[in-house]
Amino acid sequence: MRAVIRPVRQLIGETVIPGDKSISHRGVMLGAIARGTSRLSHFLAGDDCLNTIKAFQQMGIRIELESVLKDDGSKDTEVIIQGKGLHGLKKPGKPLYVGNSGTTARLLAGILAGQSFEAILDGDQSLRKRPMGRIIEPLKRMGADIESENSTLPLTIRGGRLKGIEYALPVASAQVKSAIILASLYTGSPSVIHQPALSRDHTEIMLRRFGGRVEAQGLTLTAYPARELYGQDIRIPGDISSAAYFITAALLVPGSRITMRGIGINPTRTGILDAYRQMGADITIENIDESGGEPAGDITASYSRLKGIEIGGSMIPRLIDEIPILALAATQAQGTTVIRDAAELKVKESNRIDAVVQCLRALGANIEPTEDGLIIHGPAPLTGNTVTCHMDHRIAMMAAIAGLIAEGETIITDGQWVDVSFPGFFKEIERLRS
Ligand code: S3P
Repeated sequence: MRAVIRPVRQLIGETVIPGDKSISHRGVMLGAIARGTSRLSHFLAGDDCLNTIKAFQQMGIRIELESVLKDDGSKDTEVIIQGKGLHGLKKPGKPLYVGNSGTTARLLAGILAGQSFEAILDGDQSLRKRPMGRIIEPLKRMGADIESENSTLPLTIRGGRLKGIEYALPVASAQVKSAIILASLYTGSPSVIHQPALSRDHTEIMLRRFGGRVEAQGLTLTAYPARELYGQDIRIPGDISSAAYFITAALLVPGSRITMRGIGINPTRTGILDAYRQMGADITIENIDESGGEPAGDITASYSRLKGIEIGGSMIPRLIDEIPILALAATQAQGTTVIRDAAELKVKESNRIDAVVQCLRALGANIEPTEDGLIIHGPAPLTGNTVTCHMDHRIAMMAAIAGLIAEGETIITDGQWVDVSFPGFFKEIERLRS
């Protein structure tokens, strides 16, 4: 799908941000292996999470999606899962195809490691390039039999009785940590996981709600086997990673002000708010509450004059998915922005260091790649051009927000990729514009 974005004079109003992608995936997975019914409201009906649902349906779990009309006239998705317990999954009749979704592949591998059947996990061309050795290694050490070529998808997983391990994560990855935590549900003894830095802790939070046990002490986690998990009702907060596009639009388009309600503000995810505030952004959070065991609040962002900053270290896992959109903001900031310690960007849905540089340079930005990040000199006026997103939803959305401040037309040749995490994204831009 070709998306054409024209510059906007001002963006004022409220926008509804879809449910959190990470939390939606985990809700389906834990709901499927819990006993009884789970209901997930404000579920993200994006392609990635729909692929998670399909995988569990293939393994015999009844999952229904209902469209719910809300008081404010907006539509919402509720997911109802009839969980069959930790040992209730059945052998899938064909490979489990998880599309573009790294979270589905890696977390599901953890669950499959504990099953007494063989399953094949596969994905699209982007996911088939992404490293799976990071989950294969610990899961094999726990006792799973996993076959793959070059440590990439497709994987053939033969699970069974597992044992607890002590494992130091080589990267601060929530997906790897979660794969081990989920596999640990099926072990005879606890696993101890050492993290190099804190990554998102949604698995830990949700697992406790479902009756599982995982303890955190600083950067060390102990994940325990479970006898049974129990179905839960969970309201999923808005995805701060999706909100980041509209926050950035408000910061960059003069005179703008956008409010987003019920957005997840788990501290392992709010690095983008901290970075933007450090850049001088006017962002407020009100009505802080709890949603599905996670902190949530109403975020308002207003047009701001930004200045360049330097970020790295333990901040990176707290804003890893927001680096493309942060890079766009940095093109408009006064001075230089340096992002380091972010080599993980190379193994996301695309090589995000290269994809961000290619796309923003095509629009006129002054940006350089480094081995583990980016250097951006601002401010630089942007001019519309034709760009591609490399099968990467976050690059497509970054390019669209750039198009709002660029002169002339910005064309994204493959805009359909936004459906991975934000169906209706382009419509929402058009609605706010009017
Ligand atoms: C995610 C973890 C992060 C993040 C991804 C979602 C998750 O990946 O980039 O979009 O839901 O656990 P890594 O674990 O590879 O850092």
